[in-house]
Amino acid sequence: MNVTLSATLAANEDIERRRRAGQRVLHLAFGEAGLPVHPELRRRMSEASGNNGYGQVAGSAELREAVAGYWSRRGLPTDADLVVCGPGSKALLFGLMLALGGDIVLPMPSWVSYAAQAEIIGVRPIMVPAPPGEGGVPDPDLVASAVLHARAQGRTVTALLVTLPDNPTGRLARPETVRRLAELARNLDLTIISDEIYRDLVHDPVAEYTSPAEIAPERTIITSGLSKSLAVGGWRIGVARLVDHDLRDRLLAVASEIWSSAAAPVQHAAAYAFTEPDELVRRVAESRRLHGIVARAVTDRFVKAGASVAQPQGGFYLYPEIPGFESSADLTAALIEEHGIGVLPGTAFGDLPGAPRVRVATSLLYGETSEQRIAALRADDPLALPWIAESLDHLEKGLAALTGTRRIRVDHAAFGAPANVIVGVSTPAW
Ligand SMILES: Cc1ncc(COP(=O)(O)O)c(C=O)c1O
Repeated sequence: MNVTLSATLAANEDIERRRRAGQRVLHLAFGEAGLPVHPELRRRMSEASGNNGYGQVAGSAELREAVAGYWSRRGLPTDADLVVCGPGSKALLFGLMLALGGDIVLPMPSWVSYAAQAEIIGVRPIMVPAPPGEGGVPDPDLVASAVLHARAQGRTVTALLVTLPDNPTGRLARPETVRRLAELARNLDLTIISDEIYRDLVHDPVAEYTSPAEIAPERTIITSGLSKSLAVGGWRIGVARLVDHDLRDRLLAVASEIWSSAAAPVQHAAAYAFTEPDELVRRVAESRRLHGIVARAVTDRFVKAGASVAQPQGGFYLYPEIPGFESSADLTAALIEEHGIGVLPGTAFGDLPGAPRVRVATSLLYGETSEQRIAALRADDPLALPWIAESLDHLEKGLAALTGTRRIRVDHAAFGAPANVIVGVSTPAW
């Protein structure tokens, strides 16, 4: 099995190690929402801490009903019987790949775990580049030929995955692209997995959002959860909206042999969250605003330093390209080792190794403590808070030094400097 520790988790551990060693590191590598749990959600969880039974594999009726309501309010009428809950949508995605069998079309780039999970179970991902300027979807112009080519080689291709909005690019696919993909999936007889975990964090609250489930309801599975919108990644709760009982039975078979059920007290709190009470709707709105403001500010810093980067539209990521580096690994290493800026290389997302692109996560900039993070949520101008301003300053200076200098290694004899010293020489910004 050719799988190593998840790139995000590995980078997180590396950054923590550097920090313990006294290095100042800006943590832009981890996709955690970086906000405190709403007190009412905590109260619901603790009031259910006596629930120690395993419960139903698919999740409690209370939670499945609440989740069905959540999707119905988004124009997707949902049968609670076809909702399956699990310990995070990551686990559900894994179970779905197993239950579906066959190879899967993934956008390139796409979230680290899709291809890694496929690899674990012997499914081969077919990486199809996203259309220019978009992210989270394979280019509809390329999907049919990729699938037909794989099938001509004897491969069984059963599914296509989209992420709306996307991690790593922060982009939300255009409704027209989603429509074309849904129609293609129908023509090619593919099941669509639509990962909508960032749906409620589209920055513009009135942006048009199209789920493939609206266009091809008979073949679209949606996964979601509370890890991002309500910042409870560590609680491990995810949900899936299925379309047929046969796949449900197969998914439940996998679930029953791996995780049994999601934690009962968490299910109770999640049931409350999915009914979308006013206080949580407000919290999600505040979070969405903060994610948008900070992601745009970070994007501006990259643009200023000469990177090319599409404006993020949802979640807390951006995906800049900085020319002048041979690979995303080189760029990532220069950022962390020379400038204390931790990001993830594009290769972790299945991107071409020679493309100097990195995934920048902005949500750990909100503060180190719950007090700071709440202040960031509430501030009229979060960018003016000293700890956020300081991080942006670190980023700006680091990027200016990275892109404003040509790095040359000089001979210490010639300059009287120690060997291997890096001397900056100004060049035009890219
Ligand atoms: C695109 C995407 N999908 C799914 C997940 C998994 O979320 P969880 O397992 O916490 O529900 C993540 C988390 O980083 C993600 O970025």
